[in-house]
Formats: sequence, structure tokens, C-alpha cells
Amino acid sequence: MIRAILLTVLVVVFFYIVWINNIFAPHAEYEIPEEHEKIIMDVKYAKEGRELFIQNCAACHSVRYDSLYPSSIQANPILQSLQEKYGKVLPNDIYQAVFANDLNTLKESFGKVPPDLSTSYLVKGPGYLYNFILKPQEILPGTTMPPVMTGRPEETAKIVAYLKSVAEPPPEEKSKRKVMGVVTIGYFIVMGVLIWLWRDRILKRIGLH
Ligand code: HEC
Repeated sequence: MIRAILLTVLVVVFFYIVWINNIFAPHAEYEIPEEHEKIIMDVKYAKEGRELFIQNCAACHSVRYDSLYPSSIQANPILQSLQEKYGKVLPNDIYQAVFANDLNTLKESFGKVPPDLSTSYLVKGPGYLYNFILKPQEILPGTTMPPVMTGRPEETAKIVAYLKSVAEPPPEEKSKRKVMGVVTIGYFIVMGVLIWLWRDRILKRIGLH
């Protein structure tokens, strides 16, 4: 009986942490004004954000998952032939080897290759991205990333909406996964109950009772 209660408590605590209050998730330390948070969370701004990204960021950054590359690489005809061979998202090692010259030029200018931003939303979270893009020096003192979005918080939010759309599965895929998750857990619960109800019979049948 005590064991059953203990187990139940453990299961409840586990799901509470995983689903409701994930203490391991990064905590929001960076503020976003409410109207801009709304923009970031709305996929309909992602397209505009992509345009803004191309105008303001693509000189330096790649978003490989969306086959966007730094301007000098994007202009290189080799890129197209590689994409025909490997598909739209180039393998990272191939990308780095073939375009080593372009990446080194960027490295020379900024001390490091401006990072690929495909998964930046997942790694850094919306609060960090919004504030860093808006005022890089304040968030990461000494950084060589120039403040290209100063005084344009709304457009910055749209760029973050774009980065979110690249890093996350599209909404229909997300709801499909949610349904799959619920079905899987439901299956385990039903099977668990059935096994519990029939435990005597099962134990007898395998000769343990
Ligand atoms: C002129 C080149 C340049 C442009 C333009 C530029 N960046 Fe950067 N960015 C950099 C460099 C260099 C770094 C690496 C900075 C560092 O680690 O100190 C960086 C870093 C970043 C990071 C990672 C920060 C971190 O904590 O590691 C993000 C996110 C980012 N840039 C987003 C953007 C966005 C969005 C834009 C367009 C609005 C943009 N950048 C425009 C050069 C650029």
C-alpha cells in the first residue's frame, strides 16, 4: 500500500515537472513588452520577419534549416549545385569545407564566424533573442555583433517570430505530435489498468502464483 502511494506520488511529481512547471527549462530573465511578445508568438509574422532577416542579418548569418546563407555564399553558384546534390539543407561539414574562404573572411572581420541561427530560438529563447538583437552590447558586453536593429523593437520581434518558425515544427505538425503523445500515454494507462485487474490470472498463467 505504501509502495503504491509512493509510486503514485512519484508519477504525479514527474508529470507535474515535465508538463506543468518545468524547473529545468530556462527561466525567462529577459523582459519582452507584451505587444511584442504577441508578435513573436504569432506565426503570421514569420514571413515578414524572414524578409527583415534577409535585409538586416543575412550579410553575416546563415539559417541553414531555411537554406539562407551569408550574402557572399548565397551569391556563389556552387551553392546551387551543392543543393541539387545534397538537398536544400546542406550537411554542416560540407558547408563549412566548401565555403571555408567566405566563413574565414567573416571570422577575420568579427573575430568569429557569426553563428548559424537555425536553432537559436530553441537554445536561447525569445527573451534573450529579442533583447540581444535590439541591444547586443548591453546583453553581451564586448560582442562584435553590430547593433543593426536599434530603435526598431517591433521589427526585431518579427525577426524573432521568424527564428521561432524555423526552429519549431509547423503548427499542424505540433498538434499531430500532441495527439500522438496523448494516445501513447492513454495506451499505457489502459494497459496498466488491465494488467492490474488481471494480475492474478496473468501470474497464475506464467506459474508464479
Ligand atoms: C555585420 C555582421 C552581423 C550582422 C549584420 C548581424 N550579426 Fe548577429 N552576430 C554577429 C557576430 C559576429 C556574432 C557573434 C557575437 C559574439 O559571440 O560575440 C553574432 C551573434 C548573434 C547571435 C548569437 C548571440 C549569442 O548569444 O551567442 C544572434 C542570436 C544574432 N547574432 C542575431 C542576429 C540578428 C537577428 C541579426 C539581424 C537583425 C544579426 N544578428 C545581424 C554578426 C552580425
